[in-house]
Amino acid sequence: MNDPRAHARSLAAASVAAGQPTAWFEQLYAGAARGEATVPWADLAPNPQLVAWAEGNDLAGPGRAAVIGCGYGDDAEFLAARGFTVTAFDVAPTAVAAATERFPASPVGYVTADLLRPPPAWTAAFDLVVEIYTVQVLRDAARRTAVEQCAALVAPGGTLVVIARARDEADDPGSMPWPLTRAEMAAFAAHGVQEVDVAEILDQEVPPVRRWVGEFRRTARAG
Ligand SMILES: C[S@@+](CC[C@H](N)C(=O)[O-])C[C@H]1O[C@@H](n2cnc3c(N)ncnc32)[C@H](O)[C@@H]1O
Repeated sequence: MNDPRAHARSLAAASVAAGQPTAWFEQLYAGAARGEATVPWADLAPNPQLVAWAEGNDLAGPGRAAVIGCGYGDDAEFLAARGFTVTAFDVAPTAVAAATERFPASPVGYVTADLLRPPPAWTAAFDLVVEIYTVQVLRDAARRTAVEQCAALVAPGGTLVVIARARDEADDPGSMPWPLTRAEMAAFAAHGVQEVDVAEILDQEVPPVRRWVGEFRRTARAG
């Protein structure tokens, strides 16, 4: 078997070249389900920056939460355990099936859906929207649409949390995952959602990786 990241990069390159920027996710997860590939980002644990942000903000439900690009479901389960009613979605049906299988008694609603064309009922429907590492695996128009759609899901008074790899504007974007610039982080403030804070951190990996932890909020409706 290839190096997992090299395999994912070659699937991504072929998919992007074919004009199907999201097709490779299902190919990768289906390969993993057959035991022929490894999903390079699947740590099978909640994201450490999400955990730190939640603890730092005493995050607790009730409330409706959306987890974008949920993969195998660990972040969704983390938010459900903190009292949120969670909808977790991924464009790859095999990822959604695997999450459902891993957590058979879960209260999380796992759904196959595309952030680029979300169900209309999800517009402004979530008190908490969590986007971790989805935008950074998309390119060009799909990437820009994805950023906007994250904001569109946030309910009045709701919060969007974005965690992504970071790069400077002048840095070479390199190969998948393609880190976000500060300007791309600022673009999450769309559809009436405003930036609260965007922090750049070095994570706990060896060597450490530069990441953004961004918080955005939609003003509550006047009472
Ligand atoms: C790099 S992975 C990150 C997974 C998970 N959020 C994590 O942090 O481990 C990106 C995930 O987003 C999903 N994805 C990519 N494009 C998507 C889209 N347009 N709509 C929904 N999910 C998408 C992929 O299938 C994959 O599971």
